[in-house]
Amino acid sequence: MDTGAHGHEPVLLDEVIRLLAPRSGQTLLDCTIGRGSHAAAIARFLGPRGLVLGVDVDPENLAYVQKRFIDIPVECRLFHGNFCELPEVLAAASREGVDMILADLGVSTNQMLSVRCGLSFSMDGPLDMRLDPRIKRTAADLLATLTERQLADLIFHNAQERHSRRIARAIVQTRRSMPIATTRQLAEIVRRAAGPVRHGRIDAATRTFQALRMAVNQELENLQMLLDALPRLVNPGGAAVVISFHSGEDRLVKQAMRRWQDQNRGDILTAHPVTPAHTEIQRNPRSRSAKLRAVRFAGPANVPVGDPPAPAWPGGFPVRHAS
Ligand SMILES: C[S@@+](CC[C@H](N)C(=O)[O-])C[C@H]1O[C@@H](n2cnc3c(N)ncnc32)[C@H](O)[C@@H]1O
Repeated sequence: MDTGAHGHEPVLLDEVIRLLAPRSGQTLLDCTIGRGSHAAAIARFLGPRGLVLGVDVDPENLAYVQKRFIDIPVECRLFHGNFCELPEVLAAASREGVDMILADLGVSTNQMLSVRCGLSFSMDGPLDMRLDPRIKRTAADLLATLTERQLADLIFHNAQERHSRRIARAIVQTRRSMPIATTRQLAEIVRRAAGPVRHGRIDAATRTFQALRMAVNQELENLQMLLDALPRLVNPGGAAVVISFHSGEDRLVKQAMRRWQDQNRGDILTAHPVTPAHTEIQRNPRSRSAKLRAVRFAGPANVPVGDPPAPAWPGGFPVRHAS
């Protein structure tokens, strides 16, 4: 995949824009701004009177976005924080609500490829997995301290790994003789415990790595807190799009959106989750498990879903402000 100079190809970008239907002068809260690829594309519709509020747990991604937005004529304010802290972010930005919220869950390509993050077993590196440097416990800490039962439950609950008990037993047996500290070491332990992988299946270690990353970063807990707060953060008529990458996340998003609709707080815009077309998956294999769901909240500014108008300033304006 060619991620270009920006390090992350935005998933389902056309659908995100169609469903958020950004208009000139509106405010986007991108609560997983990553490398800013979605936000930069949406900013073209907001124009110089628009505002992008960007949140991320990863300061390196925020530093990258700050530079990237210097050339984009929209006001952009960036916050290092967790999306479970959005009410505090809005207060810091002196805003009561926003017109659009985007949550593109998981990790960006540059994080996946970073040896420092230790998210991938394709390169050897420390078993860290913390996206936010404020987090205290690394993946290696969890492997060293959780009981066999806790490890098995974590691997099963977060990633539906059917060999979770065998893998947990192998982890506990190995750590009696040596600490489990690197990505390659863990991948080999898991592969040995889970047995050979049938042709065409994902690597046996993939699910265990996903489960550990979710535990280190408390991904499901944070997502639930985001969903609990979200309706109060969007202006009447505003929209929210959430892109998830595994079934545990998608279930929480589906349940929350159904609840909002049942409570007459908004309308679900996606009867079924939107998934990438074959061509997008070929171009960007990381998009293959993406599921997008969207909701528009009730209110006077409600606008029909359709093709958004042309960008407010296709040719570009001078830089207004980037902070
Ligand atoms: C898939 S990437 C987003 C990519 C982005 N849409 C783009 O176009 O570049 C997910 C981002 O969310 C961040 N993230 C993950 N969990 C988060 C959380 N709980 N709060 C805030 N940011 C989070 C990650 O650090 C990562 O930068």
